Amino acid sequence: MSVVTKLDLKELEEGRKYLMSGSVGHALPLLLVNGKGAVVKDISGKEYIDCTSQAWTYNVGFSHPKVIKAAIEQIKQLSHCRTSFETIPKLRLLKKLGELAPGRLKKISFCLHGSVANEGALKLAMINKPDAQKFLTLYDNYSGRTLATIAATWPYHPISRRFSPFMHNFIRVPNAYCYRCPFKVEYPGCDLLCAEFIKTTLEKGAEPVAALIMEPFQASGGMIEFPEGYLKRVREICDECGILLIYDEIQTAFGRLGEMFAAELYDVLPDILTFGKAIAGGFPLAGVMLREDLKPYDPAVHSFTFSHFPVSLAAACATLDVLKEENLLECARKTGDYIIKRLLEMKEKYELIGDVRGRGLMIGIELVRNKKTKEPAYEEVLRFEKEALKRGVIFGVSKFLGMGNVVKIKPPLVINEEEVERVLQVFEDLAKSLTPR
Ligand SMILES: Cc1ncc(COP(=O)(O)O)c(C=O)c1O
Repeated sequence: MSVVTKLDLKELEEGRKYLMSGSVGHALPLLLVNGKGAVVKDISGKEYIDCTSQAWTYNVGFSHPKVIKAAIEQIKQLSHCRTSFETIPKLRLLKKLGELAPGRLKKISFCLHGSVANEGALKLAMINKPDAQKFLTLYDNYSGRTLATIAATWPYHPISRRFSPFMHNFIRVPNAYCYRCPFKVEYPGCDLLCAEFIKTTLEKGAEPVAALIMEPFQASGGMIEFPEGYLKRVREICDECGILLIYDEIQTAFGRLGEMFAAELYDVLPDILTFGKAIAGGFPLAGVMLREDLKPYDPAVHSFTFSHFPVSLAAACATLDVLKEENLLECARKTGDYIIKRLLEMKEKYELIGDVRGRGLMIGIELVRNKKTKEPAYEEVLRFEKEALKRGVIFGVSKFLGMGNVVKIKPPLVINEEEVERVLQVFEDLAKSLTPR
C-alpha cells in the first residue's frame, strides 16, 4: 500500500458494501488515489495511462497545478453561492466563454452536469418553438441519463428502455454511420440519404418538431465521425423545415478534436450548444450556449442550488488559460494524427481492427471478428479492456454491459511521447493476441 498508508482498508471494504449497484460503481476493479498529467495511480501504487481522461474531463491532465491553485484560492474565499448572486469567477468565466463562443452563441448558462445542460437546451428549444413538443435525435446518440435525456440516448438495453418511454417525444432517425450504414448504401454515392431522411421525417410527421439534438461527433454510441457534407446538409434541412439545431458538445468542446468546438472544426453552427466535462479541468461544470437573438429561459426555469459552483467556475477560468498557454489544441492535433497513422498501419496487419476513425485525441477503433462480415467483437473488447488494465493502460469502451465493440483512445491532451508509445505498444500486443486465428 505505497500510496495510501494511513487508511484503514477494512473501513474501505465496509464502505463498498453500501454502494448501490447500477451507478457503475466499481465496474472496473481499481481504487484510484491520485493522478498527474495523463497518469493515474491506484491504491497499490500501480500507474495507468488513462485513455479515458476519467470520462473525458481531464483535457489539461490530472491535477494541473494552475487549476488546483485556482480552485483552492476560490475555496478559501467562497465555496458556494446561490445562483441569484454574482461572483468574480462567474463573471470572469462568462467573459472568457463569451469571447470563445462560436458565431452568435453568446448567451451562456451554467449547471453541473451534461445531462442537465441538455435538459436546458431542450427547454430553450421549447421556449423558442412554443407550438412544438417533439424532438429529433439520431441513432447511437448519447445525451445523458436523466429522465428526459435518457430518451435521447441509445436505448438498446432493456434497462434504459424501461425509462425512455417517460419522455415519448423523441423521434430517432438513422445516423451517418458509414462503416455500418443503416440504409446499406455507400458514401458519397448515397447523396447523404440519411440526412434527406431527416427531411422526410419532418415533412411527413404529424406533430411539429422543436429541434434536432445531436452530438456533432458521436462518442459513447461508437465514436462515429460523420462524413463530409453531412452536418452542412443537416443544418440546411433544419433551416428549411424551421426547427432548431442543438449540438451536444459535452465531449467535443474544449480541445478534444484539436479545435475548441466541433462547430468550428466542421464549420457548421448550431442554434444551441451544450458543453460540460473538460471545461473545468476535472471539476463539475456544464452549460448551454444560446444564439443571442433567441429567447432565453424565463425566470427560474433552469436554476439549481449548486449550478454556479464558484470553485468549478474558477477552475474553468484556469483550464481555459492552460489550454491556450500550453497550446493543447495543437498537441491534440499532432498527437492524434500520429496515433491514427500508427493505428491505420496496425489495421493492415490485424483482422481484429475493422475501422480506425477520429480527430485529435478523439479516436475510436472498431473491433470485428471478421473484416468482411464486420461481425462485432463484443467479447474481445471486454477482454481488451481487462488485459490492458493489467498492462497499465485504461482504454475506453463504447456503450456498456458488453454492447459496444469500439475501443476508445481519448487521453488527456498533455499525454507525452513516451506514454503514447506505451499505449500503442499495449494496443498492438492486444490486437495481436486477440485477433482470431
Ligand atoms: C455527449 C454527451 N452528452 C451528455 C452527457 C451527459 O453528461 P453528464 O454525465 O455530465 O450528465 C455525456 C456524458 O458522458 C456525453 O458524453
